[in-house]
Amino acid sequence: MRLLTCFTTFALVGLLTAAPSLSDDDKLVITKEFYVQDFIKYKSDHDIVKLLVPLNSLNFDEDDSRSSESNEVDTDIIIFFVEADVQPDGSYIDKGLYVLKEGKAKKLLGNGRDAAASGDSSRKVFFAAKDGLYVYNPATNSAEKYGTITDSIVGIAKEKEGDVIYILTEGREVYKVSDNGEKKELLEDVVKAKKIVLDYESNLYFYSDDNVPYVRTGDGVKKIEGLPEVSGKVTLVKPPFFFEDGVPFVTGNQLYVIYSNGTSELTPIEFQSDTLPTAYAPEAGLIQYYAYDKKIYEYNILALLLGTVIEELGEFLNQKSTDINTIASKHESLKRKIKS
Ligand SMILES: *[C@@H]1O[C@H](CO)[C@@H](O)[C@H](O)[C@H]1NC(C)=O
Repeated sequence: MRLLTCFTTFALVGLLTAAPSLSDDDKLVITKEFYVQDFIKYKSDHDIVKLLVPLNSLNFDEDDSRSSESNEVDTDIIIFFVEADVQPDGSYIDKGLYVLKEGKAKKLLGNGRDAAASGDSSRKVFFAAKDGLYVYNPATNSAEKYGTITDSIVGIAKEKEGDVIYILTEGREVYKVSDNGEKKELLEDVVKAKKIVLDYESNLYFYSDDNVPYVRTGDGVKKIEGLPEVSGKVTLVKPPFFFEDGVPFVTGNQLYVIYSNGTSELTPIEFQSDTLPTAYAPEAGLIQYYAYDKKIYEYNILALLLGTVIEELGEFLNQKSTDINTIASKHESLKRKIKS
């Protein structure tokens, strides 16, 4: 049976860029077989258009005193996702923002459109909705209004630490939000953005109508160079946690990494045209989630390394096994969660 996958894909994006470039033979083409039935965590009647794995204490508590001797280790990973019906013109009809916890999906906001989390020791997760911002309450497993903003928001990104949030409004303006959601400041140099993503150094990546990606750093806005002429769908992806100043970018079915210094790098990963995920969550690196055809799939990289993996994926991963194990050994809480 053909197994596993895509996670590979993305965890590997980071690993690969740290490694010498691979020859043509090492190209990994993502086919439908990568969407393995056994990996399905959730099935919907709608498209899944956003996915988030919070990298903070909600999921990964590095101070967790429960040691590996305990049999009671909580292996559940909480994820958030957004459902929509995608119209022929690419626009969305909102179908709700959900949390998936202990195998159960719960709708938190009927008009929720995106989610973002801090990457520190807090448990903060924020939601963008048609009528402003919300924050997750882990105790009650529900969403509560956050701050005073009432804009119709379609995208959100959160700095790793602190309270700065970036929002993308339906009018395609980007604002920096601070002071517990009370203060909002227009970023005038980010024009007509269609999608925003932050790296772990707080650089903001976006693209607008021409589908060309730009990065906004402390030095202003720069166009990303070295990419092919764009045709078709493009997307920016939240980076795996071990990325520093770069994010994945998909264009022409090819996966690139784009950097805050304006450069870009082609990875050996390519999608067949009908296998692009509808949402990506590679951020936890060793355990990754992708949405495809109204389903959410989970990819456990360590299991894939050890288990019976599809041949080309196994070979591909094994070239990277040292890097994968290094990442795993540095992140105990992550390893505990995905040991199985
Ligand atoms: C741009 O940044 C990347 C990632 O930090 C680095 O590998 C690359 O060498 C840099 N390129 C230039 C021209 O500075």
